[in-house]
Amino acid sequence: MAIIDHIQDPGSDAIFGIQTEYRKDVRKEKVNLTVGVYVDEDGGSPPIMAALKMGEQKHLAMETTKNYLSIAGDSEYLALTAKLVFGDLDFQRAAMIQTVGGTSALRTGFEFLRKNGYSGVSLSNPTWANHKQIVANLDYKVYSYPHIQGIKDFAIICDHLRSLDDKTVVLLQAKCHNPTGLDFTKEQWVEISQICKEKNLFPFFDSAYQGFATTLKEDSWAIRYFLEEGHDMMVAHSFSKSFAIYNERVGALFVVMQDKAIIPVIKRNLMKIVRVNYSNPPFHGAASIVQVLKDEKLKKRWQAELSGHRDRINSIRKRFGEALIPILGDKASANVMDGHGFFCQIPLTSEEIVRLKVEFGVYMTGSGRISLPGLSKKSFSYVIEALKKIKE
Ligand code: LMR
Repeated sequence: MAIIDHIQDPGSDAIFGIQTEYRKDVRKEKVNLTVGVYVDEDGGSPPIMAALKMGEQKHLAMETTKNYLSIAGDSEYLALTAKLVFGDLDFQRAAMIQTVGGTSALRTGFEFLRKNGYSGVSLSNPTWANHKQIVANLDYKVYSYPHIQGIKDFAIICDHLRSLDDKTVVLLQAKCHNPTGLDFTKEQWVEISQICKEKNLFPFFDSAYQGFATTLKEDSWAIRYFLEEGHDMMVAHSFSKSFAIYNERVGALFVVMQDKAIIPVIKRNLMKIVRVNYSNPPFHGAASIVQVLKDEKLKKRWQAELSGHRDRINSIRKRFGEALIPILGDKASANVMDGHGFFCQIPLTSEEIVRLKVEFGVYMTGSGRISLPGLSKKSFSYVIEALKKIKE
C-alpha cells in the first residue's frame, strides 16, 4: 500500500500546463498564445530589456554580499515601487513588503485578511485562473459577477457589489483585465469606490500590467483615486510584465490604512506569514530594478522600451479585432478592440479550442484567452485562417 493512499491528481495548470503541451508539439507552424509574456516578431523567448540589463550590470558591479534581506525586503526597492504605483504615498500609512512576484503578494494579502475577519471575496467572472486557486486554498467564499456584460451594463456590477456582506474583499484589477482586456472607465471606478465605502467592502487591487494601456501614471489612476478617497486598501504589484523580468519574481504588497497606529502591527503580521512561506524575498531582480528606477536616464530608457512593447501589442490588437469581424461578428471583435494589455478573450467553445490545438497547433488557454504578442506577422494570418476553418 502506498504511504499516501488518498492522493488526488489536481491536473495541470490552466495556463502553464497548456504552454507545456505547446513545447512538446513538434510541428513547425505551431503558435503559442498561452502565457502572458512579451515576445517580439520572431517569437521565441521574451527578450531582456536593455535598460534592465544595464541596471543589472550596475548592481552586479556594486554587489558585495548575498546576505539575507529582511523579511519585508529592501526598503529602497519598496519606496521606488510605491512612487511608481501610488505617486505620493504616506509611508506611515502603509505596511509594505517585497514579494516573490505578484502571486505571493496576492497570497500573503489574502492570507492576512482571512486571518483577520474576512471570509468572502468578490471576483470578476472570468478572472485570472490563479486568483481563483489562491482564494480557494484559503477557504474564501467566492462571489462573482459577469465582467464583460457588467462593463457594458454597469448596473449589474453595482447591484452585485451592493448585495455583498459587509467586510467582503473586492479584488479589482487596476488595468488590462486578465483575461478579457476590458477595464472600468473612470466614472465606473468612482462608483465602485462609493459602493465600497457605503458597504464597507475591502478593495484589493491587483496591479500586474502598469504601463501597458496608456502611461504608467494613467494605468494606476484607479489606485491613486482610491488612495485620495481615503480607503483602507491593499495593492499587489508585479513587475513581471512591465520589466519583462518574469523569472526573477519581483513584486510587492502594500496595505494602506487610515489609522497609522495599526501599521506596525499589520507589517509584523505580514512578516509572520512570509517567514513561514518563503522566509524572505530574493534580491537580484529587485536590485536590478532599483538601479533602473533611481537613475533618470535608465528610467527613461526603460519607459521607452515599455512604450514600444505597449504600442506593438496595441497595433496587434487593432489588426486582430478587425480581422475577426467577418469570423466572429461585430460584438466579439469590438470586445477585442476595446481592450488593453496582453489579453483578449474570444467566444470559442471548448471543442473549438481543442480543434485549434489538435488540427492547427494554435495554443491558447481553455477560456479562449489569447496572449496578443504571440500574434506575429508570420503567425497572424495562419491563426486567422485556422479560426475561419473552425467557424466554417
Ligand atoms: C498569465 O496570466 O499568463 C501570466 O500572468 C502568467 C501566470 O502566472 O499565469
